[in-house]
Amino acid sequence: HDLTVAVVGATGAVGREMLKILEEREFPATKVRALASSRSAGSSLPFQNGELIVEELTEASFADIDLALFSAGGETSKKFAPIAAKAGCTVVDNSSAWRMDPEIPLVVPEVNPEALKTHKGIIANPNCSTIQMVVALKPLHDAARIKRVVVSTYQAVSGSGNKAIEELRKQVTQLFNMQEPEAKVYPHRIAFNCLPHLDAFLDNEYTKEEMKMVDETKKIMGDDSIRVTATTVRVPVFYGHSESINIETDLKLTSREARALLSQAPGVKVLDNPAENIYPMPINAAGEDETFVGRIREDESIDNGLNVWVVADNIRKGAALNTVQIAEVLIRENLLLS
Ligand code: A2P
Repeated sequence: HDLTVAVVGATGAVGREMLKILEEREFPATKVRALASSRSAGSSLPFQNGELIVEELTEASFADIDLALFSAGGETSKKFAPIAAKAGCTVVDNSSAWRMDPEIPLVVPEVNPEALKTHKGIIANPNCSTIQMVVALKPLHDAARIKRVVVSTYQAVSGSGNKAIEELRKQVTQLFNMQEPEAKVYPHRIAFNCLPHLDAFLDNEYTKEEMKMVDETKKIMGDDSIRVTATTVRVPVFYGHSESINIETDLKLTSREARALLSQAPGVKVLDNPAENIYPMPINAAGEDETFVGRIREDESIDNGLNVWVVADNIRKGAALNTVQIAEVLIRENLLLS
């Protein structure tokens, strides 16, 4: 069976990682195509032993494509994902455009793969900080029912794309050369700083990123009763988001029980040996597939509470890898449109 797969936004930080992951996992595609804007059409991207020539994304692009992995921003997804689906091409979309649409599954394969069964051509990949959080929450919720989550994030600049990676690099160089750093991508300097501001501020005084964590968590876990509150912070790290998560459960879980549950959970790797200074850190999570969990301990300020520290590569599990894993389930379960 022939299978043509396209990466839309292939030149971006996430798109490039998607190509790398398709190659690494020997994704069963007979042909892979790279699409982006007219700005980069004609340029080449390394793939397998050769290279792919980038093609311009147009309304006619999808006639011969069976499966498209989108990571080219919300506006591109809003416009082109329905055009692709109409042409019989199944879309897995990494933008926020479709995530909260009740008709569209929002999927983390370790948590809610069954949601894929009802798709109508578009599947949404959740926000990076939500993905790694729900991977860690799911086994605890199944065992003890989570009532409330308080999360604070420490998010890498790669989540804002190639321009932000370049901005941090440049600002660090400027500072070491006694030059005034320029801030273009973020409203303030990110080098040696923390910004409690990801995405736009909303009427309720939260940021969009914070509300994505609240809303998407309930949708993916299939449980509106879980109360979630979030503070999201950008930190001067290139790759890897970290999260401090306080969890209140209905049933008591000791830290030992939580550690045992997490050790068995799919996609999770427990790194929790304080005596040896072992705990998850972004410098180790970068380039890896697992969601790393450590600092597992009981919250002594409430009856049934746990505190955990969760780190994952935001470009891989937070974006490209999760998208490819969704695509793998679609193929395995025979759920593609054509
Ligand atoms: P291009 O390189 O041609 O601008 P990042 O998140 O790292 O900034 O990457 C964004 C990705 O989305 C890039 O691959 C970019 O392509 C692509 N992109 C942005 N706008 C469009 C558009 N209107 N049509 C197609 N691709 C787009």
